Amino acid sequence: MKIGIFDSGIGGLTVLHQAMLTLPEEEFLFYADADHVPYGEKTKDEIVHYTCEAVRFMLSQGIKAAVIACNTATSVAIGELRRRYSIPILGIEPAVKPAVEENEGKRVMVMATPVTVREEKLKNLIARVDGSHLVDLLPMPQLVRFAEAENFSSPEVTAYLCGQLAKYDLRDYSSLVLGCTHFNYFKDTLREIFPEGTAFLDGSEGTANHLAEVLEENGLLEHHPQTVEYYRSGRKVTEADDLARIRRLLRRLDEMCLIRYGACSPSVKIFHADRKDS
Ligand code: DGL
Repeated sequence: MKIGIFDSGIGGLTVLHQAMLTLPEEEFLFYADADHVPYGEKTKDEIVHYTCEAVRFMLSQGIKAAVIACNTATSVAIGELRRRYSIPILGIEPAVKPAVEENEGKRVMVMATPVTVREEKLKNLIARVDGSHLVDLLPMPQLVRFAEAENFSSPEVTAYLCGQLAKYDLRDYSSLVLGCTHFNYFKDTLREIFPEGTAFLDGSEGTANHLAEVLEENGLLEHHPQTVEYYRSGRKVTEADDLARIRRLLRRLDEMCLIRYGACSPSVKIFHADRKDS
């Protein structure tokens, strides 16, 4: 049976990409809700409805476990999904805990969608792990739109990021948590903006490892040649152009997952050097 991996859009490919490395002998079904992306600007009720529909569809295709590879959908819908469906359902959440534990006395920046930033789930996680109040939350709605348009690296993206970050002194931060799966696509641009050594963290590796553990605990591990089927809002992806797009995105993720730290020399970037030195 297949493992269902769900996201509003292409962000969930980051989790699929990692899960394919961690579980090389499993069959996967990847579902992107392309008709309704972005979720990060929708109401809670809408997100719960779309996510439940997607999981219901994946169940009809014979999945044995579901991964909600979307921080936004996890933050509002995971409880309802687990109430409704009896297969193992895993979520992803921003990697705040490891970031706080490795903070080196500095601050932690968490970028996510507006819904994730607003929701109780992330606030509760921060309250549990951030006793010293080191975490700053930053909503970045436009990045999801850029990602869906495959605009990952351009003057427009850099200008947006620099504008959103202008009021922060980035030298104060030990790490940047990518709290939306779409944000992994921007690591080459982020590397040029964040000072050398700033750690970039996201939940995809932890989620893939957790998936492997849950499958093992439930006796659900299988050994097949690896396969992946792709769906967009319930329609199977079969067109050569669409499949080529997915391969292109997975190749980009091959590159992005090698980028783990910022690499900007602080003197180069006026917007984060100016504030304290002038
Ligand atoms: N990729 C999703 C996340 O991890 C949400 C993107 C969106 O649809 O707004 O939060």
